[in-house]
Amino acid sequence: MARLSPPRPLDGTDDREAFDCGRDSMNQWFRRNAWRNQQLGISRTTVLCDTETGAIVGYVTLSTGQIEREFLPKAAQRNTPDTVPIFLLGQLAVDRRFQRTGVARSLLFYALKTSVLVSRQVGCFGVLTHPLDEEVRGFYRRFGFEDLPGDPKRSMIVRIKDLERNGFAAN
Ligand SMILES: CC(C)(COP(=O)(O)OP(=O)(O)OC[C@H]1O[C@@H](n2cnc3c(N)ncnc32)[C@H](O)[C@@H]1OP(=O)(O)O)[C@@H](O)C(=O)NCCC(=O)NCCS
Repeated sequence: MARLSPPRPLDGTDDREAFDCGRDSMNQWFRRNAWRNQQLGISRTTVLCDTETGAIVGYVTLSTGQIEREFLPKAAQRNTPDTVPIFLLGQLAVDRRFQRTGVARSLLFYALKTSVLVSRQVGCFGVLTHPLDEEVRGFYRRFGFEDLPGDPKRSMIVRIKDLERNGFAAN
C-alpha cells in the first residue's frame, strides 16, 4: 500500500489533471477551480499525496457559509439568528486507485478537527455538506452527519458541539 504524506495545502505545481475520483463534475472542479479558489482565498483545499510518486491521492475543501435557521433541526432553531454560520465541506474526493483504503476517513477527520479548532476563535454552528447521492449520504452518516429534511438542498450537518463532545481536537 502507498505511503501517504501528511495533509498539506494544494500547491500550484500539483498535477491536478492526473487525479480521477470517478466523478466528472468533481474532477473538473478540481482541475479548473481548486487552485484559482485557493489563490483567491475563497476555499481552502487540502491534499494527501503518495510520498513515492507525489500523485494526489485525495483532497478536501473547506470554506465558510451560512444556513437559514428554519432549515436546522427544530431543537436547534430556538434562540438563534435568522442565518447561522457554518463551515462548508464543499468537496471530498479520493482517486479511484486509492478508494476504500481509509483516505476519505483521514481527510474528513482532518477537516472536522480543523473546523473545531477554528470554531474556538470564529463562531460556527456546525460543518455542512451537500452529498451528491444516497450512497454518499450513507458515507457521511457513518461520521455523525445528520439530514436536514427541511433544506431544499438536502444538506447534511454535524454540530461543532457534538464534535467537541466526541473528542475532536481534544488536545
Ligand atoms: C466517497 C469517497 C470520498 C469515499 O472515499 P474512500 O477513501 O474510498 O473512503 P474510506 O476508505 O475512507 O472509507 C471510510 C468508511 O466509509 C465507507 N465508505 C466508503 N465509500 C462509501 C460509500 N460510497 N458509501 C458508503 N460508505 C462508504 C467505508 O466502508 C469505510 O467504512 P468502515 O471504516 O466502517 O469500513 C470516494 O469513493 C470518492 O471519492 N468518490 C467520488 C467522489 C464523491 O462522490 N465524493 C463525495 C462528495 S459528495
